[in-house]
Amino acid sequence: MAFNYISAAEAASLIKHGYNIGLSGFTPAGTAKAVTAELAKIAEAEHAKGNPFQVGIFTGASTGDSCDGVLSRVKAIRYRAPYTTNPDFRKAVNNGEIAYNDIHLSQMAQEVRYGFMGKVNVAIIEACEVTPDGKIYLTAAGGIAPTICCLADQIIIELNAAHSKNAMGLHDVYEPLDPPYRREIPIFKPSDRIGQPYIQVDPKKIVGIVETNWPDEARSFAAADPLTDKIGQNVADFLAADMKRGIIPSTFLPLQSGVGNIANAVLGALGRDKTIPAFEMYTEVIQNSVIGLIREGRVKFGSACSLTVTNDCLNGIYEDMDFFRDKLVLRPSEISNSPEVVRRLGIISINTAIEADLYGNVNSTHIGGTKMMNGIGGSGDFTRNAYISIFTCPSVAKEGKISAIVPMVSHVDHSEHDVNIIVTEQGVADLRGKSPKERAQAIIENCVHPDYKNILWDYLKLTDGKAQTPHSMRAALAMHAELAKSGDMKNVDWAQYK
Ligand code: COA
Repeated sequence: MAFNYISAAEAASLIKHGYNIGLSGFTPAGTAKAVTAELAKIAEAEHAKGNPFQVGIFTGASTGDSCDGVLSRVKAIRYRAPYTTNPDFRKAVNNGEIAYNDIHLSQMAQEVRYGFMGKVNVAIIEACEVTPDGKIYLTAAGGIAPTICCLADQIIIELNAAHSKNAMGLHDVYEPLDPPYRREIPIFKPSDRIGQPYIQVDPKKIVGIVETNWPDEARSFAAADPLTDKIGQNVADFLAADMKRGIIPSTFLPLQSGVGNIANAVLGALGRDKTIPAFEMYTEVIQNSVIGLIREGRVKFGSACSLTVTNDCLNGIYEDMDFFRDKLVLRPSEISNSPEVVRRLGIISINTAIEADLYGNVNSTHIGGTKMMNGIGGSGDFTRNAYISIFTCPSVAKEGKISAIVPMVSHVDHSEHDVNIIVTEQGVADLRGKSPKERAQAIIENCVHPDYKNILWDYLKLTDGKAQTPHSMRAALAMHAELAKSGDMKNVDWAQYK
């Protein structure tokens, strides 16, 4: 079939006020860019005329500034799910301007299919190739693209020349049936391929192809620093010790690791520790550090939802596809993050906490209990189902005025039942097999910053120490209240709670 080649502005004009748009991509990798940037201009013009113009956004995870950024700044987003990292979006959410549904990334595609979020009117899919019979070859991410292509009334393709056609073959597209017909997802090792390298659609649904040349809006990473290096080394040493005592098999287990500098530091330390054999990744994002480890032979295979790498790193992969083809696979997020597969493969999960409490509950999403940071991302998909679940964070934030370990977290994303290990630059608290009171002791002794150790021991003295999970209900959030009042948690005065 001959496709209709249109401009990004023409494509954006197909999107009406009140529509839900489904976007390809996962992190700024592989996400739509040109059409959403034009959509922001339409929204701005309509608002200037006094007309309402807002859309709902369904996507894989965060996007780039040309989507979440521009659309939030012109107040064009009514509803969005799931995870995002954009600072302007965050501001709008915390001003109460956007309905943000922060769900586990593995659940996004199925909840759209189940109809929990309403109809998908238009899908905007970034591709490196599309064939006349409707085969869409994705770029640097799987996300929820297969599902929104299937559900949307209309599909717009952003055919992006910034992604090499060598990306063809990277993807393994597989969409499970919904209950009661769902079967097992037949992945038994990270490298198993179970689907097709493209999304098959009815070509009549493709209403326009927009040709672009727009690189992914990749974020760069801060240089490693002694603090993140120490956390990374603590994780690597802990895993090496667990392998030596036979808890982790000598062949090692596949790793999942979150995004950011701590994740890079952890992978760097694991790569350097030659007592740990070359390992596999079953994870949601592959960052630059993993690509380096694949080149060095320290990572044998990477299964992920996206290549969240810098553009020079991405081009290096595309140019070296003969080397990478049997070492990488990109999957839709409901497969890369599938709880079923994570549990089966025995994944070791490593994610970052904003704060953790004395009993092992973890807050990954909210500052001060009320303000959204980014969202839960895939951390819950992996943590709950992991062989060993690890959370890392610096022991203090904001020049020591905030302790990352508090009596009670101000918001719970991962509960004490799911969190096995907490690691800060101070050390490692192994919570496995421990009662709540034993966990509190391990966390204070090993993870808390020296400035806060006595403050937390003194908190426990406010309780009678007998309960299953000792707390003073009056004082449990007093460190947060003190931060709000004086700007420093260290000023907390327990005397008033005795
Ligand atoms: N209270 C208040 N603020 C805190 C804080 C606390 N306990 N801990 C950290 N912060 C602040 C930091 O000071 C920093 O502020 P700034 O932006 O003004 O500099 C900000 O929060 C981010 O902290 P940072 O140490 O830079 O963390 P990060 O970039 O590594 O991000 C998360 C940490 C938790 C926000 C991030 O990992 C995330 O979004 N996680 C949830 C999703 C996830 O786990 N995804 C991976 C699954 S694969």
